[in-house]
Amino acid sequence: MDATVGAGGHAWGILEASSPLGQLMGLDLDPQALALASQHLAVYGERVKLIQASYTTLLSQLARLGWSQVQGIVLDLGVSSMQLDQPERGFSFQADGPLDMRFSPDQPTTAAELVNRLSEQQLADIIWRYGEEPQSRRFARAIVQARPLYTTLQLAEVIRKAAGGRHQHNHPATRTFQSLRIAVNRELESIEEILPLAIQALAPGGRLAVISFHSLEDRIVKQYFRRENRDCICPPEQPICTCGHRASVREMNRHPISSSESETSDNPRARSARLRVVEKIELA
Ligand SMILES: C[S@@+](CC[C@H](N)C(=O)[O-])C[C@H]1O[C@@H](n2cnc3c(N)ncnc32)[C@H](O)[C@@H]1O
Repeated sequence: MDATVGAGGHAWGILEASSPLGQLMGLDLDPQALALASQHLAVYGERVKLIQASYTTLLSQLARLGWSQVQGIVLDLGVSSMQLDQPERGFSFQADGPLDMRFSPDQPTTAAELVNRLSEQQLADIIWRYGEEPQSRRFARAIVQARPLYTTLQLAEVIRKAAGGRHQHNHPATRTFQSLRIAVNRELESIEEILPLAIQALAPGGRLAVISFHSLEDRIVKQYFRRENRDCICPPEQPICTCGHRASVREMNRHPISSSESETSDNPRARSARLRVVEKIELA
């Protein structure tokens, strides 16, 4: 299962590697991405099933197709390059577009609604929690003073002015845009929801591979894998185990795998990718 199939790059690799009989289910919230994936993967015919749905519904998607378990699941979290490069989707502060940022047009809340309706305190919390932006309060105040804001470049300009040259490396709006995207799509809640469901959907010996792009995502994945890798999760000061927890997975890599230099030079956006893999344990 490719639970974030996007335009089908990973799916293509999985179908090649599992040729001639492997079957793949691809999920994505974004109908435009799925339309591209279906073109790219058309040569694989009936071996591919593409469904527009959130990965949090993976168990019901499996049941719909009558599949009981899968051998592998890949989750490539966050926004795709294709989505970032479409100004009309509103993900990028580098090109003008509406403040949308939804992965799916079926989702109810856009970034414009958050920016224009939330209180200053609520905006500051989002920018701090999901963007880890040290100037979250200053930026929230500037947004509230400047609103209504409808476009990406309007928002980027408000943040740039509020930052007043204090950011060195990245555009000052980078973290604010990330935080709004995470809030609009409830991304961190979805990651927390999918991890146990994905383990449940795996056949024993099957593997779950998760690629994350920033520390907020990676922390959730790392902590969940560490916990599920252990037989006892009682507090360390407790002399006798009372939790009854049993490890459900084996971590395949203690430290996340990063992209190689040659990959980063071909695709600079890959530089912050972190891959973690676990294998489901067959319970005795
Ligand atoms: C980094 S891209 C994946 C790119 C893909 N691996 C490829 O090879 O083209 C992440 C994708 O996950 C999708 N996505 C984000 N949240 C999702 C969710 N809750 N359920 C399903 N898809 C989601 C996005 O729409 C986006 O297409």
